[in-house]
Amino acid sequence: MRAPSSFNNQCWNFSVVTGEPLDAIRHGNTEGILGGQPDSREFRTFTKVPDEHRGRQIEVAKQLFGAMGIERDDKDGRQDWVLRGFRQFDAPVCIIVTYDRVLDGSDDTPFDCGAVTTALVNAAWSRGLGAVINSQGIMQSPVVREHAGIAEDQVIMKSIALGWPDEAFPANAVVSERKPVAEAATFVGFSG
Ligand SMILES: Cc1cc2nc3c(=O)[nH]c(=O)nc-3n(C[C@H](O)[C@H](O)[C@H](O)COP(=O)(O)O)c2cc1C
Repeated sequence: MRAPSSFNNQCWNFSVVTGEPLDAIRHGNTEGILGGQPDSREFRTFTKVPDEHRGRQIEVAKQLFGAMGIERDDKDGRQDWVLRGFRQFDAPVCIIVTYDRVLDGSDDTPFDCGAVTTALVNAAWSRGLGAVINSQGIMQSPVVREHAGIAEDQVIMKSIALGWPDEAFPANAVVSERKPVAEAATFVGFSG
């Protein structure tokens, strides 16, 4: 709760869900996807991922499929993997991050949600809990809204799957790549 936010507006709220309501969300989300329901996330996203970023997406997918032994032409294996995401990775707890609708329209709002979410994930990790920030779990937002009882004055932003990590699960050994600092950061005015 000590995360910074623009003007200290603390736009965020959390629905911490487990048990039957979480199972109902998993079920409704998966059924919706498999039944061809269009994506109903409540935030903007791109229609086409630029090549450079797509490359990174492919790289981490290759690492994960490699660890899980899912071959390139194993359609069922791949589908199964994607569906895990829609089920929140079968985690015992899911935290839905929402924000106050009255703050909709400012880009500071999702930025602040990102800040608090990172803080939450770090706090979880510091206690040994695994956490996965994800959009897949809220792909069917009406389902999430219904079963988590989220009020209309809240916009659904992201979900965080939470639980004790299974160290024996092969994908958990994957360490994703990062571009180097030299590529991400430009240092200006330091020399001379
Ligand atoms: C905003 C956001 C949305 C994400 N959505 C998903 C998701 O829907 N499904 C998923 O499996 N991972 C999701 N991730 C996890 C990223 O894929 C992951 O952080 C990235 O591949 C880097 O891997 P690492 O966190 O293990 O280093 C999401 C992460 C963020 C920050």
